Amino acid sequence: MTELFQVVGLRVRPATEQGAIPGDEILKGLDLTVRAGEVHAIMGPNGSGKSTLGNTLLGSPEYEVTAGSIRFQGDDVTDWPADERAKAGMFLAFQYPQEIAGVSVIQFLRQALSARKGLDLSVLELRLATMDWMKRLGMDSSFVDRYLNEGFSGGEKKRNEIMQMAILEPELAILDETDSGLDIDALRIVAQGIREVRAERPEMGVVLVTHYQRLLDEIQPDHVHIMVGGRIVQSGGMELVEQLERDGYEAFRTHA
Ligand SMILES: Nc1ncnc2c1ncn2[C@@H]1O[C@H](COP(=O)(O)OP(=O)(O)O)[C@@H](O)[C@H]1O
Ligand SMILES: [Mg+2]
Repeated sequence: MTELFQVVGLRVRPATEQGAIPGDEILKGLDLTVRAGEVHAIMGPNGSGKSTLGNTLLGSPEYEVTAGSIRFQGDDVTDWPADERAKAGMFLAFQYPQEIAGVSVIQFLRQALSARKGLDLSVLELRLATMDWMKRLGMDSSFVDRYLNEGFSGGEKKRNEIMQMAILEPELAILDETDSGLDIDALRIVAQGIREVRAERPEMGVVLVTHYQRLLDEIQPDHVHIMVGGRIVQSGGMELVEQLERDGYEAFRTHA
């Protein structure tokens, strides 16, 4: 099977202004290979670098890659800006968790679709395309006219993210479950949404950064990686999740 996505020896530190003393590395040599159709879960204790990894893969200017590379569909994208990655088919929607004043869900989706595929759908065409997904995700049809993330509940944010993923049809979706305290409903929406999108597009790769074991029980990822101290210290399958539930992260720290 072809490699969709490959991270080799990735080392990352916070970006610093010129002349300032650089901070310590957060990612310290991380390797990850994702083939088409695979779901990889990355788990780890707080502060292990999960969100830094997610943000770096999405091209956040907040972080600086000091060594290693990120390859996507044969291209070295390590230095690509976020919008170029999106255009190539890396899913970037989760980088906009904040409100964007005065932009509705459907307007945002239309812009993102235009950037991703060069498709200029009319609002009406896009409305038709979203209706099916709104029904599947249990959303009211008025949802797309609300302003992006303004007063959204956790569950609504998640539904919106899943709908963006469904409509934008990425080759690789990187989902960072950054917010703690997602309720059971929100977890279920994410799990069901990922299943539905995969059923339609079985070639899509998924990297799911999470500390929710429950989410993984529902998604049943192909590969599970444990991240401690900026490195993947162990890789395996769902048995690692069971081991975590039993022993906690302590057992994995010795590998770091
Ligand atoms: N922009 C930043 N500047 C300085 N330190 C950072 C920055 N981002 C993350 N860190 C530090 O890097 C470590 C890993 O953070 P993070 O990637 O958020 O971990 P996780 O998501 O696994 O909890 C933490 O110690 C955090 O304080
Ligand atoms: Mg985090």
